[in-house]
Amino acid sequence: MIRTLIHGAGRMAREVLVQLQETGGFRLIGVVARTQPGDVDAQWYPSLEACKADVDLLIDFTLPGGTRMAAEWCADNGVALLSGTTGLSPEDSEALTRAAAKVPVLWAPNLSYGVALMTALVRQAAATLGVSANVSIADIHHQHKIDTPSGTALALGVAVTEGLAQNRPADDAYKLAYSSVREGEVVGEHTVRFELPSEVIELRHQALDRAVFAKGALKAGAWLVEQPTGNYSTSEWLGLGP
Ligand SMILES: NC(=O)c1ccc[n+]([C@@H]2O[C@H](COP(=O)([O-])OP(=O)(O)OC[C@H]3O[C@@H](n4cnc5c(N)ncnc54)[C@H](OP(=O)(O)O)[C@@H]3O)[C@@H](O)[C@H]2O)c1
Repeated sequence: MIRTLIHGAGRMAREVLVQLQETGGFRLIGVVARTQPGDVDAQWYPSLEACKADVDLLIDFTLPGGTRMAAEWCADNGVALLSGTTGLSPEDSEALTRAAAKVPVLWAPNLSYGVALMTALVRQAAATLGVSANVSIADIHHQHKIDTPSGTALALGVAVTEGLAQNRPADDAYKLAYSSVREGEVVGEHTVRFELPSEVIELRHQALDRAVFAKGALKAGAWLVEQPTGNYSTSEWLGLGP
């Protein structure tokens, strides 16, 4: 049984709780949240330091700042860290890198299998088309989402840049265009558009339910606790290449 602690008590952390209770192989140690969530049926800890139980895996869905504390706590306590928090600052990312020298760490802005696959396809399309295509990346999310563009849109942008570099490095004038819409309760939609002189290719992913990320977090977490110390990506977890 993977002794699992959940960091955060927002929309995603609650979805992880629901899925964890329906998934075998995990033992819930509790939920860490700054204020006690009234409607969560789990042991509550007001801080990571307040948890003295043995933990194998910390699942972090907080906001920037929270992830940095999670990285430091996991490194100090020998706990694997699976984080899905987006909008991280360079300092937060550095904390994840430091933690990865001591424990297994997987940070991903999107934990759905579909987006991991789409990222690999986007990289391949960019490598094939090269700078002949104008690329734009659009994301649509619910009105509560803070970071813009989304972490997933930025990661898709990195895949485009990596793909282009395999073909011919883009010159400095090459710019990716991002656009974001925040409306209603949209779970998450991403479109990467490759515009050629007389044709257009679009790769699009639509998450229909937050459960897809929570299920992904648990599957990735179960994989992560078996890995040696290091920094992992969803591509490595799913065997989709670099
Ligand atoms: N990787 C993926 O697949 C994926 C999918 C969906 C969303 N996300 C990302 O996951 C994150 C959480 O999303 P959400 O919709 O669950 O957000 P949310 O509903 O706003 O919940 C955020 C939670 O983080 C806590 N928190 C904020 N700052 C903190 C800090 N400094 N220390 C400790 N806890 C802190 C909040 O507690 P308080 O109430 O005390 O502030 C709250 O419990 C976002 O970055 C979102 O973009 C990732």
